[in-house]
Amino acid sequence: MAARVFVAGSANMDIVASVPRLPKPGETVLASALATLPGGKGANQAVAAAKAGSPVTFFGCLGLDALGDVLAAFLQSVEIDLAHLERAACGTGTALIAVDDYGQNQIAIFPGANSSLRFSEGFRQAARGDVLLCQNECPLDVVREYAQAARRQQVTVIHNAAPAVALPQSLLEIVDVLVVNDDEAVQCLALMHPGTEAPREVAAMARALRVRADQIIIVTLGADGVVALAGERIIHIAVHRVQVVDTTGAGDCFCGYLASCLAAGDSIDRAITVANAAAALAVGRPGAGVGMPTRSEVDAFLASVTA
Ligand code: RIB
Repeated sequence: MAARVFVAGSANMDIVASVPRLPKPGETVLASALATLPGGKGANQAVAAAKAGSPVTFFGCLGLDALGDVLAAFLQSVEIDLAHLERAACGTGTALIAVDDYGQNQIAIFPGANSSLRFSEGFRQAARGDVLLCQNECPLDVVREYAQAARRQQVTVIHNAAPAVALPQSLLEIVDVLVVNDDEAVQCLALMHPGTEAPREVAAMARALRVRADQIIIVTLGADGVVALAGERIIHIAVHRVQVVDTTGAGDCFCGYLASCLAAGDSIDRAITVANAAAALAVGRPGAGVGMPTRSEVDAFLASVTA
């Protein structure tokens, strides 16, 4: 049986305004288009892992409203197991997103039902070889419960520390693979070591984030690619130069593909290479959840760039 990716995390409805440029504080800009699209870091990562070909179970909490129904239907349409999905008597999480002409975004999130996520006994089915993927958009004590159960069950824990918050040491020390972007790395370090300046060099940043010698720390750098620290090895993978339409969810695509590859038994080098290629395809498409590429698209892209 193929190893399963378990995602414990957020699901949001994204209200996306296309703007010529991101507004400055206090400024109003006119949008040329408005779309309502499935999102949320947890749900996006679950979709990416499913498109990558893994069996995926999603532990999340939606509101008892129409937005929740739409999100559940979308997740079901990509064959994600929703047997343990919760619904709370409040609004579904919602993200207000502005995307500019260069694909850059600004996001404000109202967590809504994501704040009601609880640990599910359904996670007991996860076993050695499976992967747990979490983020920072749900209550961190619940995320820690999933991570602790994963460690007891010999399940690999991947934590995407986004958005940046003060990660409790008790969570950080049970993470096997930590994924952050460069801004989040700086913010995490500032929160972990208040009053000390974060190292400027990425490899040094990764070393400062590592709290266990066998942890893998991955720092995504946008246009500068990806740097990972694995043991004493530094892995650097360059970005693929593509036309950027919308960067929303690109990090989620990377995490979902990474989880899927590690669940399939790939080396960390191969997993990062595939995830980096998947993210390059994701930035070329609008929307987070709907912009995730399929595994065959990623394989074809990788074949074309290595030919
Ligand atoms: O990472 C992108 C996601 O962040 C969006 O889909 C939005 O919902 C927020 O969670």
